[in-house]
Amino acid sequence: MVKIVIENMARKEVTGKAGSSALRLLHENLVDWMHACGGKGRCTTCKMIVVAGAEALGPLTDTEQRYRANSELGVKERLACQAKVTGNCHVRVPEEYKLPHLNYTE
Ligand code: FES
Repeated sequence: MVKIVIENMARKEVTGKAGSSALRLLHENLVDWMHACGGKGRCTTCKMIVVAGAEALGPLTDTEQRYRANSELGVKERLACQAKVTGNCHVRVPEEYKLPHLNYTE
């Protein structure tokens, strides 16, 4: 069992099976998270800022490496649809990808 704590969603905790993508865990826990391309690695709107536990996310996928090389994915950022969760981590929703119908916290 792994856990993601979403700091700016009132520290909501989502849990699930190790090895699942972060986006899958978020959806399994009914967390609304932007994912414009449907999780195919083509949009970056599923971006999350990793504030702790970066080692609990699998290595960057080829897709993420490409975005990183193009400066479209910062050093603390991962794509939720690509990153496989293998442990516990803390993330934040980036300002630019907050959903308008949700209330976020600090
Ligand atoms: S949902 Fe589009 S890149 Fe992840």
